[in-house]
Amino acid sequence: MAMATLAEHPVPKGIDPSLVIDFDYYSDRRYGQPGGIPQAMADLRDEAPDAFWSTALGGYWVVQGHEAIVDAAARTDLFSSGYMRIPARPDLPEPPKNIPLQLDPPNHAAFRAPLNKVFTPTQMYRRVDQIRALAVELIDAIAPLGEADFFDTVAEKLPVLIFIDIMGLDRAHFRQYRDMAKAAASEPDQEIRLKAVHDGSELLAGVIADRRANPRDDLISYLLDLEIEGAPVSDDMVLGYCKLLFFAGLDTVANAMSFIMYYLARDQALQERLRREPDKIPHAMEELIRRHAVAPVVRIIAKDEVWRGLPLSKGDMALLNYPAANIDPRVFDHPDEVDIDRERINHIAFGSGPHRCLGRHLARIEMVVLLEEALSRLPTFRLAEGKPVPMRGGGVLTVESLPLVWDR
Ligand code: HEM
Repeated sequence: MAMATLAEHPVPKGIDPSLVIDFDYYSDRRYGQPGGIPQAMADLRDEAPDAFWSTALGGYWVVQGHEAIVDAAARTDLFSSGYMRIPARPDLPEPPKNIPLQLDPPNHAAFRAPLNKVFTPTQMYRRVDQIRALAVELIDAIAPLGEADFFDTVAEKLPVLIFIDIMGLDRAHFRQYRDMAKAAASEPDQEIRLKAVHDGSELLAGVIADRRANPRDDLISYLLDLEIEGAPVSDDMVLGYCKLLFFAGLDTVANAMSFIMYYLARDQALQERLRREPDKIPHAMEELIRRHAVAPVVRIIAKDEVWRGLPLSKGDMALLNYPAANIDPRVFDHPDEVDIDRERINHIAFGSGPHRCLGRHLARIEMVVLLEEALSRLPTFRLAEGKPVPMRGGGVLTVESLPLVWDR
């Protein structure tokens, strides 16, 4: 697919200047303020319209209104998932596709179906005891200390260890997997990002070759045994599945959970309420993830079309900025506040349209269990005074460390 570059196409012709706004979703200047990325998303929503052109990163469209983003996610004929790099790199060979993420309908459904079977609520719920046991172990290890970096000690470990087990990877390589996933999602330097994706692919290709020779009871072996539309899958296709799962599974929950704990550390009244009313935790988790969505997603424009008054051209890149769409005041009253008494929380933190997150049932179980165990095992926790909570943007919004303290 032909891709535009900054040199050819700095600002689309005929665009109203009020629709040209600077937003660098990796390292935006708004991210550094008090309140970090969640506040930056609110500022961007107030400053910019539902869809606009950003001059950062070689130029790309940003869609952030709730209705506009739902429309864009459904319009797969216009907003294609076939290529997902901002800035586009037409100078590099096209990488093998992440399956099913980078397939558009109608091909997408047949390739999504096998994962649907694996990631059902029932299948994921079978892991709840394992998830709870690990949550208890990790939280009990820090509780007597009175302080900890919650990201390192709990939020990162729990989902990543569970995911490593589901995939059939090796827990001994925890740090290596995590570093690759983190770099691929949120490293501001594109060359480092591309290298992380390349290294992750090589590593997974080695595991796939091993499972082809020695199948086990794990997800990689299940994928190798699939037939799709009557044909056996190739090792390259399995690599496409594994790359997506690896990068989606190793970074998202850890960061979503850290943003949620960052919020709760500053809203101690809500902590107390949830300790008193633990049956509200699942509903509260939906509200917390609405306000702290972590995954903006990338599309490429598949044809020239004026969409909502915007002159989209084939090959332009676009970002569907879900974190801002979840605080659209036309859909949510007082959208910036976490209000667990909200009745209807129709958030789109897990995306919208045919690519809606397949891992959401697992993510929800992990986040609810973690919240339940953290609130019942730790006394009131707060941010450690004088220690920063560094954040960065990108394909997954990231909390780099979360120093918390509580009374022993
Ligand atoms: C809080 C945690 C998570 C969030 C916020 C999240 C968010 C998202 C979003 C926004 C999409 C849509 C992508 C697009 O439209 O291009 C997506 C897709 C996907 N997610 Fe997640 N995700 C999370 C956790 C997970 C986990 C734990 C897994 C796997 C273990 C996973 C696997 C997937 C897969 C396979 C897709 C692609 C589905 C398709 O293309 O049909 N996600 N996720």
